[in-house]
Order: sequence, then structure tokens, then C-alpha cells
Amino acid sequence: MLFSKIVMSAIAAPLTGLGTAAASNLAVFLPVLVAAIAYFQYELLDPESRPIDMPTEELLERYDFIVVGAGSAGAVVANRLSEIDAWNVLLLEAGGDETEISDVPLMAAYLQLSGLDWKYKSEPQGQACLAMNNGRCNWPRGKVIGGSSVLNYMLYLRGNKKDYDMWESLGNPGWGSQDALYYFKKSEDNQNPYLTKTQYHATGGYLTVSEAPYHTPLVAAFVEAGRQLGYKNRDINGKYQTGFMMAQGTLRRGSRCSTGKAFLRPIRLRSNLHVAMNSHVTRVLVDPTSKVAFGVEFVREGKLHRIRATKEVILSAGAVNSPQLLMLSGIGPKTDLDQFKIPVIQDLKVGHNLQDHIGLGGLTFLIDKEDSIKLDKVFAVAPLMQYAIFGGGPLTIMGGVEGLAFVNTKYANASDDFPDIEFHFVSGSTHSDGGTQLRKAHGITDAFYERVFQPIANKDAWSVIPMLLRPKSRGVIKLRSKRPFDPPLIYPNYFQDDFDMKTLIEGVKIGVALSQTPSFQSYGSRLHEFPDCAQFPKYTDPYWECMIRLYSVTIYHPVGTCKMGPYWDQDAVVDPQLRVYGVKGLRVIDASIMPNLVSGNTNAPVIMIGEKGADLVKEFWTKSVKYGRDLRGI
Ligand SMILES: Cc1cc2nc3c(=O)[nH]c(=O)nc-3n(C[C@H](O)[C@H](O)[C@H](O)COP(=O)(O)OP(=O)(O)OC[C@H]3O[C@@H](n4cnc5c(N)ncnc54)[C@H](O)[C@@H]3O)c2cc1C
Ligand SMILES: *[C@@H]1O[C@H](CO)[C@@H](O)[C@H](O)[C@H]1NC(C)=O
Repeated sequence: MLFSKIVMSAIAAPLTGLGTAAASNLAVFLPVLVAAIAYFQYELLDPESRPIDMPTEELLERYDFIVVGAGSAGAVVANRLSEIDAWNVLLLEAGGDETEISDVPLMAAYLQLSGLDWKYKSEPQGQACLAMNNGRCNWPRGKVIGGSSVLNYMLYLRGNKKDYDMWESLGNPGWGSQDALYYFKKSEDNQNPYLTKTQYHATGGYLTVSEAPYHTPLVAAFVEAGRQLGYKNRDINGKYQTGFMMAQGTLRRGSRCSTGKAFLRPIRLRSNLHVAMNSHVTRVLVDPTSKVAFGVEFVREGKLHRIRATKEVILSAGAVNSPQLLMLSGIGPKTDLDQFKIPVIQDLKVGHNLQDHIGLGGLTFLIDKEDSIKLDKVFAVAPLMQYAIFGGGPLTIMGGVEGLAFVNTKYANASDDFPDIEFHFVSGSTHSDGGTQLRKAHGITDAFYERVFQPIANKDAWSVIPMLLRPKSRGVIKLRSKRPFDPPLIYPNYFQDDFDMKTLIEGVKIGVALSQTPSFQSYGSRLHEFPDCAQFPKYTDPYWECMIRLYSVTIYHPVGTCKMGPYWDQDAVVDPQLRVYGVKGLRVIDASIMPNLVSGNTNAPVIMIGEKGADLVKEFWTKSVKYGRDLRGI
């Protein structure tokens, strides 16, 4: 004890010596945090527990399966396929491994625009993100083992049962809500004993799910405010979705549980799975005559390599990069491929059907009590030590989000349990980190920040991010050029359908109503206005619309760009077994296969897709072996 006290003070000396003003400087705080984690959690950081990065010269010439991308889906697929000893699996990942900082839940936004991020931006469209630099919304995507599950806010949500039943009814047998539930539970190791007593949750899976060990009193006020508006406090991943809840997330002992940590670290010694990091796949190799995918091309350490796949290539590169890779390989809309003189192997609507969750950022309510999460309270010695030693304290709050809710606007049928708005409850707002994280992550202009948030610097506040659950607008991802290292063009088309704006406006009103409940009035909660919208009569629809168009935030859930559908669906890119139409030996297993965006955050649904997708592959190949036939690509 005494010893660790001495070490503690040695590690924390730079912080204490400098006082709060300097401690709030991340340049001072972060190295100290890393040192403290390294010291107190050395056994968890043991390099031996990390996935092994296979050197290029030790890679084989051919594998049964090549999985591209070690993200939310890819890590699951690689794990499940390599359960079969007779199969060799290669997992190629463009990024490297996770870091100490990516483990810290409250630092989630800090990872954006770092080396772990692809740093994408949408093209300016004039309808949304108007307070952002050049009118472009930041579109972070994880470039690291674990993919976007390393950058995400860790919130664990499954969407609505109707989402999956809808997928099935569109002509995708095996994708209904009961199937989905089976796979959600297959992955899950839920730490909440009340939840695991129900039929909706499970223990023993690879993926740890729990509440943050620390919470502010504000989240209780949030759940109570929901009750006062007539909503139940319930497990929103259980029998019903409508209601309010303290967030559960992919957290293990107070730290991020990415899919890399969950699915790859425990199997690092499987000799039939090779993981190659910093390997950027540039193309799937497809024989133009037989239309069989037979391998991939990738760049590692500046050199181009080719490796063969004898059974399948599986793209798990995510909703931005999987369509990009297909198009680079000659699979995509013919007119687009012709434009870049890419020989067309298969004309498919790759990149279309893009859907994303959009919400209003910065809907801030000032309060009279010092209960919110603020810079000087968090980037200080005590929270740092609580985190490093016990995995506790405010640094375990998932990106600042403590509560979640699903509510009905006037456009939803309230007796249907199919809510149209989700709330992310944050025990702070854009200004609470002193402009160090969210301002940059959201890409808002300095002028906008100065006008809206500078005046409330250091003030206690909470916020809700109302999010539109089922947007009608559809965007598209296109190639910028035929160069694989050029980022693709992203056109989200937010609010192209007017109904999306109308619904989100109603969502904002419910957020404001929340602040007027006795629960939040006991904090003296009052709306902080955007001076930029002063030209509109206060609290009218045009007023809210103005705020939404300025501070539109993606909730980072792009999906649908390699749509799953039956053969008669002209827009489908993959069939219900996730095989790319018209090409043999090639599947897509990730967020891009969703025909419709689910009504909730997408990480758990994508992990579910990984589990189900891996089973489809196993079924296919073990059956073909069993009957002694080559059923490849039927
Ligand atoms: C900032 C942020 C916050 C989020 N918050 C939440 C949340 O709180 N809760 C939630 O449920 N969801 C959240 N999400 C969404 C969720 O994390 C994603 O939907 C999910 O991770 C997508 O999984 P995926 O497998 O489709 O893609 P990814 O996880 O992005 O994986 C794709 C992988 O492929 C790799 N790759 C791509 N191209 C290539 C290539 N050419 N060669 C080799 N490798 C390649 C990438 O580097 C990456 O590792 C968030 C996402 C972000 C970015
Ligand atoms: C609302 O949903 C309930 C339950 O599903 C249904 O019985 C009712 O007809 C619906 N009402 C409308 C107006 O669609």
C-alpha cells in the first residue's frame, strides 16, 4: 500500500505540481495517464496477450479464407472460422493495434482524427453540418485492430425486433428477430445479474457488456425525468425497446472491450489464424472469365503483395471501405467503373442505399449544481488514479454518455413499441471538455464554438443528442479515383427527405420537454440557445430546424452500401448468405449488408452479423464437404 502510494505520487507529480489549469492540458494529462495505466495494469498490457502481428515473410502463399478488416465484424468472423482446425485463415488489417488511451472510455472522442482513424469527411451538401468546417461532417472510422469498435462510444444496443423481422420479410430468410437474438446472446457476457436472469441476455460469450462502474447523479435524474414524461425505466435491449435506461456498454473492468480484445486476444495462439497488421488491401483478385475471387492484393511496408484464397475472400472492411474495395475490384455500378476505366466484372449497385443516424449536437441545458462532468474534475490526479488502479471513476463513462432512451414523436404509433427517436444523455456538453475533444471531433468551426460555447465555458450542464432512428434519406459512396489510397466520396444526403427533418424536430421538442420535468427542474435546467438561430421566432419548428442544420451530428452508423437482398431485388449486392451476386468465393460480412438501418446503435448488430455470417460460411463449406461436392458459389 505504502509503496503504491509513493509510486502514485511520483507518477502524478507532474499533475499536482501544475495545478488544475495545467492538469486540464491534455498534453500533460495523457502521458501521466499512460504511465499510470502501464504501471498499475501491467499484467493487462502484457504484450503477450495482444494478437500476434505475423511478419510478411511468415505469411503463407494461400489460405482457405482471407478476411479483410479486423473490425466489429471481421474480428468475429476470423475467430469463428478459425475454430475449424482444418481451415487456415488470414486476417488482414490496415491499422495497427490498440493503445492505452483507446482503452479509456471517457477519451473516446479524443481518438478521432488520430492515427487510429481513417479521418473521412463527407462531401459538403448544404443541408446539414453547416456549422462544420467547409460544411463537411467528420466521418471517423477505426483503422486499427477492432476497427470502429475501438473508436466508438461503446454503447450496447440491439435495435428493435421489427428491424430484423423487416429484413426477413424483404426476402432474407434466417435474419428475423429470433435469429438475431440467438446471435446477440452467442457473443454476450453480460455482467448485470438482473439482466442475465431474463431470456434476452447471456453470460459466457466473448464480448463483455456492463454498465460503467461510475455515474453522476444526473443520469438518475434523466431516468426519473423519463418516468415523469410517462416512459418506463427498463432494459431497452429486452422485451420492449421504448423507455429510459442507464447505459450498458462493451466495457470490461471499466475499460473498452473492443472486438479485438474480445474476439482476437483470447485466440492469439491459434496456429491456423494469421493476423497481419498495417496491411492495406487494395483489390480483390477476381478471374474475369470464371468470376471466381481467388485472392487479394495488399500493400504492407510500401510493397505490394498477393495472397491466394482457396475457399473465399470475405470483406469486413466496413460500410465505407467494403464498397470502395468492391468497386476497385470491378464490382459496382457500371457507369461509375467505366468513368475510371476499371474493367467491369459485375454491375451491381455497390455504394448505394447508404443510411446513417443523424442527430442534433449541442442541445445544452445549464444547471445550478456542480454535478456534471467537467474538464477540471476529470483530468486530475484522483480520477486518473481511480481509473488506473481500480478501473473506476469518471474516466470510465463511455464518451460522456450515461443514459439512453427510446421515445415516440407524434409520428410514431406509441402502442407499437417502435419508437422513432433515440436519446443519448450526456452529463456535460460540447464545452465541458474545455474545447479539447468534441469541438475537434465534431469539426465545428472556431467561430461557431466561440459564439455558442465560449460564453458558458466551465459552466455545469447536461445535454441530450436526439437521434433520428429510421431516416428515409439515402446517400451514396462513390470512388474518388481508381487509386486505392484515395478516400472515397461520401454523400450522406442527410434530410434529403423532408420527413426526416420533421421527425427530428419533434425529437428535439421531447428533449426540451425532458428539461422541464420536475426532475430536471430541481437542477434549474435551462436551455442554452444558439445565437446563430436568433433570426427565427423562439422555439418554433424553424428555430429547431436551424439548430439541426447547423450542428448536425452523425452518430457514426453508416450502413447499407452492399445491401443484402433476394435475387429479385435490383438493389441487392449480396444474397441472404452474404455472397456477392455474380461472383464466386466472395462475401461481404459487415455493416454494409444491412438492407435497412436498425433502430439503434450499430456495433452489437454488426457483431451479430459477424456471428451469423461466420455460421453461414461454416454451413456452406462443411455441407459441401459432407456431400463430397464442390458447391462453391452455387
Ligand atoms: C466515433 C464512433 C462512435 C460510435 N459509437 C457507437 C456506440 O456507442 N455504439 C454502437 O453500437 N456503435 C457505435 N458506433 C458504430 C459501430 O462502432 C460501427 O457500426 C461498427 O464498428 C462497424 O463495424 P464494421 O465491422 O462494419 O466496420 P469497422 O469496425 O469499421 O471495421 C472495418 C475494419 O476494416 C479495416 N479496413 C478497411 N479498409 C481496409 C483495407 N482496404 N485493407 C485492410 N483493412 C481495411 C479497417 O481499418 C477496420 O479495422 C460508433 C462508430 C464510431 C466511428
Ligand atoms: C398502433 O399500434 C397498435 C398495436 O400494434 C395497433 O393495434 C393500432 O392499429 C395502431 N394504430 C394506428 C393508427 O396505426
